[in-house]
Amino acid sequence: MKALILVGGYGTRLRPLTLSKPKPLVEFCNKAMIMHQIEALVAVGVTEVVLAVNYQPHVMENFLAEEGAKLGVKITTSKEDEPMDTAGPIKLAEKHLNDGEPFFVLNSDVCADYPFKGMLEAHASRGAEATILITKVDDPSKFGVVLYNEEMMIDRFVEKPQVFCGDKINAGVYLLSPNVFNRIELRPTSIERETFPAIAAENKLFCFELPGHWADVGQPKDYLTGLGLHLDSQSKINPTALVPQGGNIIGNVLIDKTAQVSETAILGPDVVIGANCIVEDGARILGSAILKGSKIGAHAFVRKTIVGWESSVGKWARTDNVTVLGEDVKVKEGVCLNGVRVLPHKSIKEDLYEPTIVM
Ligand code: GDD
Ligand code: MG
Repeated sequence: MKALILVGGYGTRLRPLTLSKPKPLVEFCNKAMIMHQIEALVAVGVTEVVLAVNYQPHVMENFLAEEGAKLGVKITTSKEDEPMDTAGPIKLAEKHLNDGEPFFVLNSDVCADYPFKGMLEAHASRGAEATILITKVDDPSKFGVVLYNEEMMIDRFVEKPQVFCGDKINAGVYLLSPNVFNRIELRPTSIERETFPAIAAENKLFCFELPGHWADVGQPKDYLTGLGLHLDSQSKINPTALVPQGGNIIGNVLIDKTAQVSETAILGPDVVIGANCIVEDGARILGSAILKGSKIGAHAFVRKTIVGWESSVGKWARTDNVTVLGEDVKVKEGVCLNGVRVLPHKSIKEDLYEPTIVM
């Protein structure tokens, strides 16, 4: 079985992290974002994954070749010369994807408990041409909304509705039958605005409701919310997965085994500590991700913060309110940062109480 992952764009909403690494390689819960998806696909029997990209950094190719070899899955890229939107890339990759069997298509900026097996069964039993994973959200206006009947057949698909029409949304995960190739022209075209409405009009568009958690992790605030949801779900699936190493732990905390965390630091809930990080005495961390090689000084207070790679937060410093530090940033002792984005290689010596970007 095959799968395509839509990896368009430059990840601008996840800056400053994406100034150092392409978004799919930014770690989420200590694993490159895209590897969460690839591992779940491999688990259900996918043997070839095509990444649809409109730019192609070598670092990504090298990384994925290595990871793919470890998992025994072939990972290739299909590069667009101009952005082809969300359906065009499927047509462009037809020769890689079309083996006469249904295939998965995923948006790259979502994270979920992927129910791929259930989708495959539902798709086959209903004779669907397309099966869309759906979930419920509080504010559906930023998403594609689906209206469906008791048989889970979609009557209408409305992308970014201007007036409220329902709260079940497209979670950005599809199972498509090969006939879909016949519907898409080789040009920039949207699956949400063109392909799905056309399939729905022929009563061949179905949905499958996600039983578990779902998050769009493409921007820092949602990344941190998604981190909490993901740890919660991991702790239920495998209670020993989050065995803490050092520190006083509250709730769900994931600590890489190479990190050094002081016994007197207090961590959690919803904290991820990456490889080779150091957390000193009395530090307090909550609702945050500390990426590879970073250091949190003694008695620092770190809340709702993403600390980029090889950065340091000084003693008694305080970061909060969706602060994001890029790679190799130094926050000096005692400094307070509130909702601040700091670009890579900066040193911050003064308090910043208002949300701002340090360039
Ligand atoms: N290769 C390629 N080329 N990929 C693209 C392009 C392109 O030109 N344009 C967008 N993508 C990729 C994005 O990287 C992302 O993975 C996916 O297609 C969806 O695009 P977004 O820009 O993230 O769309 P959205 O978040 O506003 O809405 C989509 O996702 C929602 C769920 O998060 C839609 O599918 C909605 O219906 C859905 O509810
Ligand atoms: Mg998106």
